[in-house]
Amino acid sequence: MSNMINEIKRRRTFAIISHPDAGKTTLTEKFLLYGGAINQAGSVKGKATAKHAVSDWMEIEKERGISVTSSVLQFNYGGYCINILDTPGHQDFSEDTYRTLMAADSAVMVIDASKGVEAQTRKLFKVCVMRRIPIFTFINKMDREARDTFELLDDIEKELGIATCPINWPIGSGKEFRGVYDREHREVELFSDTHKGTSMGEVRKVSIDDSMVDGLISESQRELLEEEIELLDGASAEFSQELVDKGELSPVFFGSALTNFGVETFLRHFLEMTSSPLPRKSDKGEIDPMREQDFSAFVFKIQANMNKAHRDRIAFMRICSGEFEAGMDVFHIQGGKKVKLSQPRQMMASERKAVEKVYAGDIIGVFDPGIFSIGDTLTTSADKFAYEGIPTFAPEHFARVRQVDTMKRKQFIKGINQIAQEGAIQIFQEYNTGMEEIIVGVVGVLQFDVLKYRLESEYNVEIRMDTLPYEHIRWIENDEINLDKIVGTSDMKKIKDLKERPLLLFVNSWSVRMTEERNPGLLLAEFGRS
Ligand code: G4P
Repeated sequence: MSNMINEIKRRRTFAIISHPDAGKTTLTEKFLLYGGAINQAGSVKGKATAKHAVSDWMEIEKERGISVTSSVLQFNYGGYCINILDTPGHQDFSEDTYRTLMAADSAVMVIDASKGVEAQTRKLFKVCVMRRIPIFTFINKMDREARDTFELLDDIEKELGIATCPINWPIGSGKEFRGVYDREHREVELFSDTHKGTSMGEVRKVSIDDSMVDGLISESQRELLEEEIELLDGASAEFSQELVDKGELSPVFFGSALTNFGVETFLRHFLEMTSSPLPRKSDKGEIDPMREQDFSAFVFKIQANMNKAHRDRIAFMRICSGEFEAGMDVFHIQGGKKVKLSQPRQMMASERKAVEKVYAGDIIGVFDPGIFSIGDTLTTSADKFAYEGIPTFAPEHFARVRQVDTMKRKQFIKGINQIAQEGAIQIFQEYNTGMEEIIVGVVGVLQFDVLKYRLESEYNVEIRMDTLPYEHIRWIENDEINLDKIVGTSDMKKIKDLKERPLLLFVNSWSVRMTEERNPGLLLAEFGRS
């Protein structure tokens, strides 16, 4: 087998999704402890070191105006080459967070054991389902008082509509959290002290049928475990790799990222169960990295530099087939010409290094002189093709925007259009009225500040923004529809996007449902086709 195919086969590219504070960063740090730079140095170092490596990297990113939280970490573990795509949360939540999921082959969903499924997880999960990528669940914070385990699984199944299959099962929680029970091997895995998670610790495995177990966990824990296992074996879905691959069954693991319990067990199982880079849809059919030799990639994110002195942009692309070497000429399908991808950079766990050779599954950031758009395809294949575009995700905050100085209308229109083209905001117009007012939609409110700042600093245009009460947007999927005939609710608003496609805005989800009920046959979508 060629070296290239071997390299591609050992790649695992996944995104971590969670609600803020569920433990995504802590879990990622622990992954780095098992792989990455820390391990290669040959000594086990603590959380402080892991954090240090990550925060140094953040400084570099900050200097250059790129957010680390929306980037990629690469490290090696157990023969695998792992790319973790972080999905920014908190204030940074934006359409980019969703787009990152377009570049992943699977997703790890981190859930706080005391909380269950939370709002942001729900949103990100929808995108994973749309893409039908495998979803793995890590129920975190078992070292704290957790909700009942069955209840947590029920919550995931009901809230998210996906079947779950626990691969292991927690033994106790809070101070009594001893370890997990491996269902396949019928083994109890007990964790040694990890010095508050600073070291890798040891895992002791004992068969559940071994009398030694009695000395290791309390009698009541053992009784409860046996009871729960019996219940579980009777009630839960059986593991099926096929269903996992289709994104219909989520393998579930338990642990504590902070104390480093159950993290390696999870990582090992996950790497075996998730797949190497998957084929991607294009206008010439599926492109399979195991068959397509030529390089191809698509742009999933464009990051503008916030520094006024450097107006360059960085285009992040996911390599879907072949290999890439610095200085290679590639064909930019949408631009219709050859380009040299300059200054390619790859994000590493501990450093940001210049790319020498990267393979399908990897992510690179390249300098963009303003020629790339989100969804663009680049390839060296003589048989040119374009990857399926990236959908437009539903904004949740809306504002009417206009320039303060009416003389600056031209700059305003130019600026706002360019920023929309980069994918930072979406712009809409009133439907059917002659008014030229612009409505801006964003996924995260921080984007409003970014818009204001950039229009002022880059285009010298001061703007006024009036927020609108809408929170839900729906694209109309019907090919032919008379918009005037739609019977909506009193709070509904009709608008159109730049491609003149009609859309509806609603204040609440109740109105969306009412409108669907009142207009049989009307097809409303939460994602806009590209
Ligand atoms: P996020 O990236 O998903 O937002 O979460 P992050 O890892 O930053 O974790 C949020 C908080 O939860 C942190 O506490 C972190 O230490 C804690 N945490 C993460 N995993 C676990 C776990 O398994 N058990 C327990 N008990 N806590 C966990 P913090 O006080 O906000 O920050 P820090 O000062 O501890 O860093």
